[in-house]
Amino acid sequence: MSGLTLTGQRALITGASSGIGQATACAFARAGAAVIVNYLSDDQEARQMVEDIRRDGGTAYAVQGDVSTEEGCETLFAQAMEKLGGIDILIANAGVQSDAAFTAMSLEDWRKVIDVNLTGQFLCAKAAVEQFRRQGLDTQRSRALGKILFTSSVHQAIPWAGHANYAAAKGGLKLLMQTMAQELAPEKIRINAIAPGAIKTPINTEAWDSEEARRELLELIPYGRVGEPEDVARAALWLVSDESDYVVGTTLFIDGGMVLYPSFREGG
Ligand code: NAI
Ligand code: BGC
Repeated sequence: MSGLTLTGQRALITGASSGIGQATACAFARAGAAVIVNYLSDDQEARQMVEDIRRDGGTAYAVQGDVSTEEGCETLFAQAMEKLGGIDILIANAGVQSDAAFTAMSLEDWRKVIDVNLTGQFLCAKAAVEQFRRQGLDTQRSRALGKILFTSSVHQAIPWAGHANYAAAKGGLKLLMQTMAQELAPEKIRINAIAPGAIKTPINTEAWDSEEARRELLELIPYGRVGEPEDVARAALWLVSDESDYVVGTTLFIDGGMVLYPSFREGG
């Protein structure tokens, strides 16, 4: 099997009822994958997505689950197995922000972000690897035993004042991804990450929904536009398809050049 198709493959996308996860689930379904649309609380949106995907001839199921707890992950994976019989792709996407200046950041703010953005991705990845091993390699589906794509951020590389919890989680995710990739590549499990820049989603509405905020944001983006969830979904599709079979342990930045230190165009 080759090409940008996911026909015959089964994908679980966490935090898929909005933003990047939503666009990714829809793109994967269009590419032929059967998808699990995991959601935390917005069951209406998740069910609507499933309905839309099915109307277009795809296969999708909405499954509630809190990825930040072991029980939540166990239930999510158990239900995914019940619906799809297996899983070939995990998109560990669910994430939150709980911003505060450093000394104003409560332990609760810290834990909330680490629990979802780092521990949640770890727990889902662990459950996915265990499932890949149980299934065994099926080259009719994919050249890899399984694929995991972590959703990091430009803030795995760019320090971010007022967001110490978020930057620490994404920085941690970078080495979690690389360590897992090194450890699991011999089993033909491909682990990579995407690192989006500023993408128009509910997580950062205040960064792009007023003219002034948008103008300030564009100063940070050499390519001159704010990203759309579909920009990320297209890259994610390539990274889990057999077209990228030799890509292992890499972070793909999808950021319009945000990590290029644009302020250095005029200085340094
Ligand atoms: P979003 O807020 O639309 O999506 C996050 C999703 O995660 C929501 O659907 C939310 O319900 C879900 N979620 C939160 N806690 C959860 C939990 N405990 N269990 C299950 N689901 C949970 O925002 P967006 O932008 O689509 O975020 C997706 C990922 O992309 C996040 O990991 C975020 O850090 C990352 N990201 C976003 C960027 C952006 O500019 N929008 C840039 C870089 C990374
Ligand atoms: C954050 C967004 C932010 C973007 C660029 C993402 O990781 O979640 O709020 O706009 O990085 O700074």
